Amino acid sequence: MANTLLLGAQWGDEGKGKVVDVFSAEADIVVRYQGGTNAGHTIEVGGERYVLHLIPSGILHEGKTCVIGNGVVVEPFELVKEIRDLEQRGVAVRGRLLVSDRAHVVLPYHKALDAGLEHRAAADRRIGTTQRGIGPAYADKAARTGWRMGELLEDDWPETLRRRVEEKNRALRELDAPLVDAAALETAMREIVDFLRPYITDTVAALHEAVRCRRTILFEGAQGTMLDIDYGTYPFVTSSNSTAGGVCTGAGVPPRAIDRVIGVIKAYTTRVGEGPFPTELKDEVGEALRAKGREFGATTGRPRRCGWFDAVVARYSAAINGIDAWALTKLDVLDDIHPIRICVAYECDGRRMETVPACSRRLGRCKPVYVEFEGWRQPTVNVTRFQDLPAAARSYVKAVEDLTGLPAEILSVGPGRENTFRLTS
Ligand code: IMP
Repeated sequence: MANTLLLGAQWGDEGKGKVVDVFSAEADIVVRYQGGTNAGHTIEVGGERYVLHLIPSGILHEGKTCVIGNGVVVEPFELVKEIRDLEQRGVAVRGRLLVSDRAHVVLPYHKALDAGLEHRAAADRRIGTTQRGIGPAYADKAARTGWRMGELLEDDWPETLRRRVEEKNRALRELDAPLVDAAALETAMREIVDFLRPYITDTVAALHEAVRCRRTILFEGAQGTMLDIDYGTYPFVTSSNSTAGGVCTGAGVPPRAIDRVIGVIKAYTTRVGEGPFPTELKDEVGEALRAKGREFGATTGRPRRCGWFDAVVARYSAAINGIDAWALTKLDVLDDIHPIRICVAYECDGRRMETVPACSRRLGRCKPVYVEFEGWRQPTVNVTRFQDLPAAARSYVKAVEDLTGLPAEILSVGPGRENTFRLTS
């Protein structure tokens, strides 16, 4: 079977967890390649709700191997908590989870720096991060002052830790942020280092072997294209490459190891945190989308900003990632909305634009050009075949396909596994 890359084509929270869960059933191995605990994938299985921040959702499928690749930044305490929580709920993790020895470590000082930097930033420079230490951890990696999971297996890690805490406390002091207690951190880490030892390994070699043996791999993106550090709405982005290129650098596999790319898009758009969002709705329709779509962050609980589907963003994302087909999620959230709009272009500084500008300030000045669609005003939640959708809902899906130039392969009309189906029409 083909190796599939599944990634978000908007600003994250597209419902990737659920789609990954469906694709995982056909894969042997599921791989995370970027991001950290800023991600939060919510999956509902048999009425049980799981929220995973680091471990690929494939873990909920018996017998699948899950990989946390070198491009991920790993908060080891969170990882241990996630493993223990899953095991307590009867999900076997030991022997099925491989954590890259090249993945960088996120420690409490990264989180404190993240919070301190946000606090100090002027209001218009604040990113609205998840405060999970992501930016400072990737900054350490790029500055070559980071610390990798494999180094936790070296006997002298406590000395390295003490040195790091001392350096970081100097930076925290300058920010007037709370300092990190090196001794307490060392004690806490002693226990988890031993716990994590069997999980830390050379995942690059493991993945090369899997490619050689033609095992089926699913690469699971976190965040979304518009949060990518290069292609997103910089500086209001995360600190990793959440686009397709991130797989090669974040998992150590060559481009040819990816056979097809599925872009996950919601039937409308959301964004959490600061930054431009042309189709944002600051009215009762936006409120209705938030309430019905349960649009509150899985990681931070923050209310998400909601707006209409933006075909400009979707086309941009399709081009950057080489998307072959869409997984279109949360169509049911539009059930009661009438009329429904899709943004087909922008108007900016007196000109019509069909692409996303690089400059966030410019994107902030873009006004959406909309086309309008009939709402279907009836529930779709029990539908499991495209042909059983109301005619107006089918037209809406067709419009998304036409305006983005790509077919929808998966559709989801509710939170459960049973509400996600393949389009055969
Ligand atoms: P950071 O990744 O915590 O540094 O946050 C940077 C920006 O990315 C902020 O606007 C966050 O709200 C956003 N962000 C990070 N992770 C996610 C996610 O999983 N879903 C949606 N937004 C995210």
